[in-house]
Formats: sequence, C-alpha cells, structure tokens
Amino acid sequence: MDKKVALVTGGTRGIGRAIAEKFAANGYDLVLNFMRKRSAAQEAKEAIESAYGVRVHLVKANVGEREQIQALFAEVANTFGRLDVFINNAASGVMRPLMEIEESHWDWTQNINAKAYLFCAQEAAKLMQKTGGGAIVGVSSIGSIRTLPNYVAVGVSKAAVEAITRYLAVELAPMGIVVNAVSGGAVDTDALKHFPNREEILETAKKRNPAGRIVEPRDLAEVAYFLCTPAASMIRGQTIIVDGGLTLLAE
Ligand SMILES: NC(=O)c1ccc[n+]([C@@H]2O[C@H](COP(=O)([O-])OP(=O)(O)OC[C@H]3O[C@@H](n4cnc5c(N)ncnc54)[C@H](OP(=O)(O)O)[C@@H]3O)[C@@H](O)[C@H]2O)c1
Repeated sequence: MDKKVALVTGGTRGIGRAIAEKFAANGYDLVLNFMRKRSAAQEAKEAIESAYGVRVHLVKANVGEREQIQALFAEVANTFGRLDVFINNAASGVMRPLMEIEESHWDWTQNINAKAYLFCAQEAAKLMQKTGGGAIVGVSSIGSIRTLPNYVAVGVSKAAVEAITRYLAVELAPMGIVVNAVSGGAVDTDALKHFPNREEILETAKKRNPAGRIVEPRDLAEVAYFLCTPAASMIRGQTIIVDGGLTLLAE
C-alpha cells in the first residue's frame, strides 16, 4: 500500500506509454487503460514490468462512456486501493474539414477527449482524497491554440482540456491536488497515420523546429512527470507547451 500509483489513460502506446515508463522508472505501480488493442497493451505491460520491476494493471475501457469511467476507477480502487497520479492522455477524433463535420463526429471527439477528462478527474479526486492529495496532468496539443487542417473537432476538444485544467486546478486545490497540462507539437506516433498530410507534418516538425529535431514522446513524458513532483507544486492550471519552439515562429 506504500507504493505510489499512477493511472494513464491510453497508456499502452505512443505518448501515454512513454509517460507510463517515466513513472515506472520512478517506482510507481501503474494502471494502464486502453480501448481496442489488447495485444499492444499486453506487450506494454510485460515490457514495463520486466524493465522496472513494478506492477502494471491493464484496464480496457472507452473513456468516452461514463459507466466505463466508473468501472475503470473501481478497478483502480480494487487493485491498488489508492491513486497518486492521473494522466488524462487517451484521445481520439474525427479528422475532417469544418464543413464536413457531422454531429456524431463532434460528439465522439468531445466525449473521449474533453468530457472524459472532467468525469475521470472527479473519480481520481475521490481516490486521491483518501491519501491527502495527488497530481493530475491533461495532455493537449497545439491545435487548441492554432488552426491545423482537418483538426477542428480535436482542436476544440483540446481547448476544452486546457480550460478544464484551469477549473480543476482551482476547485481541487483544497483537496491537495495539483493540476496542469502538457501540450505538444507533432510527435511521430500511430495517431499521425490518421492525418492525410502526415509526411508534410513530420517534415515541417523536423526541418523548421528551432530545437533542431522533432518532439519525441519522452519529451512530453519528462514534463508530465515533473508536473507531478513537489518541485512543481506551485505551478497550477498551466498548459506547458513542449514543441522545441516551433509555434513561436511567425512563418
Ligand atoms: N501524436 C502527436 O502528434 C500528438 C501531439 C500532441 C499531443 N498529442 C496527444 O497525446 C495523446 C496521445 O497521443 P498519441 O499520439 O500517443 O496517440 P496513439 O499513439 O494513437 O495512442 C492512443 C492511445 O489512446 C488509447 N485510446 C484511444 N481512444 C481511447 C478511448 N476512447 N478510451 C480509452 N483509450 C483510448 C489507445 O488505445 P488502443 O491501443 O486500444 O487503441 C492508445 O493507447 C493524445 O491526447 C494526443 O492528442 C499527440
């Protein structure tokens, strides 16, 4: 019961997995949520357990569904009895131009990316209260503040993530819970396969980045971890952009 526990939604692939590994490397037991790809989840569990000697509990749940959120957190409570860190990383979304967005596309995207964050954070706070507090990090993207092709539904959901982060930071502060978000420039994960202009995005992210390279999953993981340490305890409700300075460029 002494070991700290971190829950990462969508923690079995891409950026979520890098975040999970960072916490495992620092001794956290993990609950990793996924939605569809059980074999990738199983591979992540085995690799992390053998590399870091921590426990990894997998939970299949679509965080866009309220009842599945409740089941996810019930498993956290039943398995570990505590929660110290919650990383709201899972995301999905329909990539279409604004004029082609239908109601079902909008609802799917907002439910998984924005609504889930609020209701997961409620459940996380209830568990964290039992041990006197914890930390929550939302994962956002540059599309929250910049326009990207085909990204309207996701971009708006990420703007909501950043707004929810600010409200959580204030309203959960009395419970001893620190809340912030990390936002990234393009990262070469499976998610980019859904972008019709993937090659162009990657080329720009590499060539034009003032830092001289593309953002890697571990870059976001380092900052997400830092935001959950005592050194960051007076940072509240902020979205830290991890993009090597790319979005600073006017053109
Ligand atoms: N890639 C980028 O360029 C980039 C840049 C900035 C920010 N981000 C953000 O970083 C986060 C992770 O992105 P990524 O690129 O690592 O994505 P990814 O490689 O596509 O992985 C997505 C993960 O989320 C899970 N997931 C998807 N929908 C879910 C749902 N409804 N319920 C529960 N789990 C779900 C997936 O589970 P399955 O394996 O079962 O499908 C998978 O584990 C997202 O919030 C994304 O917006 C990404």
